[in-house]
Amino acid sequence: MYRLPTLATQGALKRIALLTSGGDAPGMNAAIRAVVRSARAEQIDVLGFVRGFTGLVNGDLRPLTSASVANILHRGGTLLKSDRCDSFRDSAVRWHCAEQLREMELDGLVVIGGEGSLCGAHLLAEETGFPVVGIPATIDNDIQGSDETIGFDTAVNTALEAIDRIRDTANSHERLFLVEVMGRNSGFIAAQAGIAGGAELVLVPERRIDLEAVCRSLEESRLSGKTSSSIILVAEGRKPGRTQRLAQALEERGYEPRLCILGHTQRGGNPTGRDRVLASCLGAMAVAFLAAGQSGVMLGIQDRAVVAVPLSELGQRQQLDGSMLDLAVTLQK
Ligand code: F6P
Repeated sequence: MYRLPTLATQGALKRIALLTSGGDAPGMNAAIRAVVRSARAEQIDVLGFVRGFTGLVNGDLRPLTSASVANILHRGGTLLKSDRCDSFRDSAVRWHCAEQLREMELDGLVVIGGEGSLCGAHLLAEETGFPVVGIPATIDNDIQGSDETIGFDTAVNTALEAIDRIRDTANSHERLFLVEVMGRNSGFIAAQAGIAGGAELVLVPERRIDLEAVCRSLEESRLSGKTSSSIILVAEGRKPGRTQRLAQALEERGYEPRLCILGHTQRGGNPTGRDRVLASCLGAMAVAFLAAGQSGVMLGIQDRAVVAVPLSELGQRQQLDGSMLDLAVTLQK
């Protein structure tokens, strides 16, 4: 369980809004539900912008009540839809949004999203002074300042279920599979699912692919006689086609790899209990911090405690611990 800070409310919060932005993540609905129900418990009105920052720019707003968020805790996706809003990169657009928020007599905004969305939240708060707090929700788990992000645990379990299924058919046909997982520039999903799934190799963007080392590992695995099938987990990286290029290089060395690109299956599905609890805690604390007069912070988890991290400190991506990758390899020897 998580340790939640106790905050003194200032009682000035009457109306807040929230939005979900960027790549959606299982657990976003749980966060929306927690924000709404925590606010309503303090008689704070809640409105939701539809389609992330695009909804904020367009003033596309809908009231949210405790009834509005019934039966969504267990659902993937986001009740408020999501979007990647390039126009929000423009400072003039952010000023327009702040003026619109004030005209709507809103006292604060909760932004639920990943790296890009939290950067937008930071700029809005810093430039315009409008009270904004962020909640880290991305399957990538790459947000500096929080040990976990909403959606990561569910994505790992989705990938793991696929890996277990692939293991069955790989064993039956004694085949080599390359399984690609999401994560953009980070290898957290690959590392966690790789260890849990017993992948023979885990290839992440944080480390250059050494093709000779891959082939040596496959040969060692074959000669060991332990297994006649192999699964290599490949994190997608930023540039598309990384796994296809690896497959082609292996084919040129006489292998016959099968590819399985898990893609957006990792973004859907019912959130795990861990993600539901994480999202509920962060959603409730987002309201508590706004009510305490805080702004320009992201609610994150550090050593199992909910903490407020200045949005200005989110520049760096959370770094993958290389020892996790070494462990994955060791456990497959
Ligand atoms: O950031 C979350 C994420 O799922 C990444 O892992 C992935 O590379 C990206 O979003 C895909 O973006 P889109 O859904 O816009 O194609």
